[in-house]
Amino acid sequence: MSLLEMKDVRVSFPGRGWRAQPNEVLHGVSLDVAAGETLGLVGESGSGKTTIGRAVLGLVRPSAGTIRFDGRDITRAGGAERRRLARDIQVVFQDPYTSLNPSMTIGDILAEPLIVQGASSRDARTRVRTLLDQVGLPSDALDRLPREFSGGQRQRVAIARALASKPKLIVCDEPVSALDLSTQARVLDLFVEIQRETGVAYLFVSHDLSVVRHISHRVAVLYRGDLVETGPAAAVTTSPDHPYTQRLLLAAPVADPVLQRERREVRRKLAAV
Ligand SMILES: Nc1ncnc2c1ncn2[C@@H]1O[C@H](COP(=O)(O)OP(=O)(O)O)[C@@H](O)[C@H]1O
Ligand SMILES: [Mg+2]
Repeated sequence: MSLLEMKDVRVSFPGRGWRAQPNEVLHGVSLDVAAGETLGLVGESGSGKTTIGRAVLGLVRPSAGTIRFDGRDITRAGGAERRRLARDIQVVFQDPYTSLNPSMTIGDILAEPLIVQGASSRDARTRVRTLLDQVGLPSDALDRLPREFSGGQRQRVAIARALASKPKLIVCDEPVSALDLSTQARVLDLFVEIQRETGVAYLFVSHDLSVVRHISHRVAVLYRGDLVETGPAAAVTTSPDHPYTQRLLLAAPVADPVLQRERREVRRKLAAV
């Protein structure tokens, strides 16, 4: 059974201007994520990746379709049910500089969700130490402020915060896109290690095929609000079926300038098709 299942999900935003038509940005998206699995979701900017994540988190309401989590229909979950779901479904955002409250210490940032859920402050402290250890931060991070940390370290704090309630699923929305390449690699390794230890599932959103390739079991490709291809990560990211995925693959950065030039040629030819 799937942990998360989206079926024919449509999302529209109000159109701009007088008598504007609603703008549908997801046109019937179906996907599923098994417990402990990573589904990579790729697509160019504006294709609707963040909207899918926000629909799962209950931050936008689908106009049609269903979202099921752990066997329950959560499409229209609100209020109390959403707060309960927040234990099981967590999120890590792209920007490590705005996602942490700048005036709270790392210790308080991590303890807050635990205390909201009824943990004693002593239990929360113990759990916070475990979390810091889990994400590879020193325990003296507790009393420090977010600004004392690098982008990569802040993203480790955000991951620790997401893990605090022992969720079953984390929606990761471009969680390494703001980091430099070597930091990206280390944070991606951390995601993999945490999954191995905790069995958490990820819906892992990125515009970059080379990022999802490393971390995903399966990859789904979104193009202008439609999924055009879903399959095992290796197959989708090395020999994709769909021309759009082929273009995304060719757009991924490569270090080798000769290869890069070749790819540019192929890309031009594909674009002309
Ligand atoms: N709150 C909103 N109001 C109106 N349009 C939105 C809103 N959020 C996203 N959109 C539009 O929906 C489309 C998909 O956006 P998004 O899901 O953020 O794409 P991605 O994350 O793949 O870059 C874009 O055209 C965007 O402009
Ligand atoms: Mg986005």
